[in-house]
Amino acid sequence: MGFSKDFLWGGATAANQIEGAYQEDGRGLTTMDTLTVGDAQNPRQITYKTVEGQVCKDERLAAVPEGATGYIDPEDFYPSHTAIDFYHHYKEDIALFAEMGFKAYRMSIAWTRIFPTGTEAEPNEAGLAFYDAVFDECLKYGIEPVVTLCHFDIPLYLADTYNGFSSRETIDYFVHYAETVFKRYKDKVKYWMTFNEINVLRSWLQMGIHPNDDATKAQAVHHLLVASAKAVQLCHDLIPDAKIGNMIMYAPSYAMTAKPEDVMENITYKRQVEFYLDVMVKGYYPAYKFKEYERKGIELVMAADDLAVIEAGCVDFIGFSYYMSTMSTTDTSIPKTPGNNMMSYKNPNLEVSEWGWALDPLGLRIALSEMYDRYHVPLFIVENGLGAVDVVEEDGSIHDDYRIDYLDTHIRAMRDAVDLDGVDLMGYTPWGCIDLVAWSTGEMKKRYGFIYVDVDDRGQGTFKRSKKKSFYWYKEVIAHNAENLQ
Ligand code: BG6
Repeated sequence: MGFSKDFLWGGATAANQIEGAYQEDGRGLTTMDTLTVGDAQNPRQITYKTVEGQVCKDERLAAVPEGATGYIDPEDFYPSHTAIDFYHHYKEDIALFAEMGFKAYRMSIAWTRIFPTGTEAEPNEAGLAFYDAVFDECLKYGIEPVVTLCHFDIPLYLADTYNGFSSRETIDYFVHYAETVFKRYKDKVKYWMTFNEINVLRSWLQMGIHPNDDATKAQAVHHLLVASAKAVQLCHDLIPDAKIGNMIMYAPSYAMTAKPEDVMENITYKRQVEFYLDVMVKGYYPAYKFKEYERKGIELVMAADDLAVIEAGCVDFIGFSYYMSTMSTTDTSIPKTPGNNMMSYKNPNLEVSEWGWALDPLGLRIALSEMYDRYHVPLFIVENGLGAVDVVEEDGSIHDDYRIDYLDTHIRAMRDAVDLDGVDLMGYTPWGCIDLVAWSTGEMKKRYGFIYVDVDDRGQGTFKRSKKKSFYWYKEVIAHNAENLQ
């Protein structure tokens, strides 16, 4: 009973939230590089000047001349530019992962390190070499790299020139990028995922799209799904012994009451994520999606072979993030609370984190059961964790018992899913295994890591790494395959 011997224990990060060095060795700009720091009260801003010097805040797209590559306003602070400087600390960081006993490290490749604008015919060798070095460092310690091709970082040039995934050209550029990295790393990387949290991508920032109306979004999502399916097929062809998954944000949703209206509302809500799973795992567009588009007057433009491509590009596993559950109701007077990429009705049965996200370990078992029962493919929890403020004591120690409690209850819930429900679970890579820039707010003080990084919300600090109490705790969990947890 319990987790298999080859269970992939590890941790997860993303390029734009850790690497920094945003203009080093030929890296091009991404849409994420235009995002300033915010906090729980003040949303992050997209601040961006075009090459012609127009200042554009948020509505900037209206003013961008065709083909502009633009530059970043030096007046603002952009967390991705320095992040935690993994680019220069990766050896030290991976050594710490190894010390915890990681079997896997989930990370992403920055598309613009390989193709600075996204459109070059030849890749940037310095960018490729960087990831060679990172993968070699992992493999030296027996850590399997688990690589996301695209984690919220679309080349800025593709956004400016092609309106990102609104246009079919971007599919081809993405596929060229995927093919390049598959060929280069085929002997080093055996676990891949296509787009991070594909079900929450909806804006200029993550898809490079403009304008942001329902029809443009639906078309861009279709292009993402085709691009993903093409990458899956390529991976199967080029690296037959690799496994490639999708990556979705999964927050199980509960009907607030047994009222049939609430239950129907919940079904409708759940279809928002099931749509992506139906397409990527089962290989077909579900009827409810076509009906929804019909009601909204959206007519998707499809190439003749798009549906065949989707059918042939089914993933080998479902990778997903789990942080919280949510709730559906027809009663719109119910108070709301923030959640991962959403505002959620507040479930009166659950406590929330400092950032308002519902705390629900059993929800992880529910998520695993729902997906395994419906899709029958292996599952991989590639993000989970608690964002919290850590206090560094005078002696440098950090007692993050709250994080240990969170992870302990979630790991036990996933063990139940394996032991009691028969779920096929490949691995667990908790989010932000080393402190990193929070995606929603851009803060450093919202920390997830087992490893503390001395950097503040304005990118100031020594960048020194230190081990939190949870570091030692997680090391024991991995060493005992979680059998030490009660
Ligand atoms: C997921 C993303 O949505 O949640 C990560 O894949 C993100 O990039 C994580 O960091 C946690 O969200 P936040 O806003 O606390 O960083």
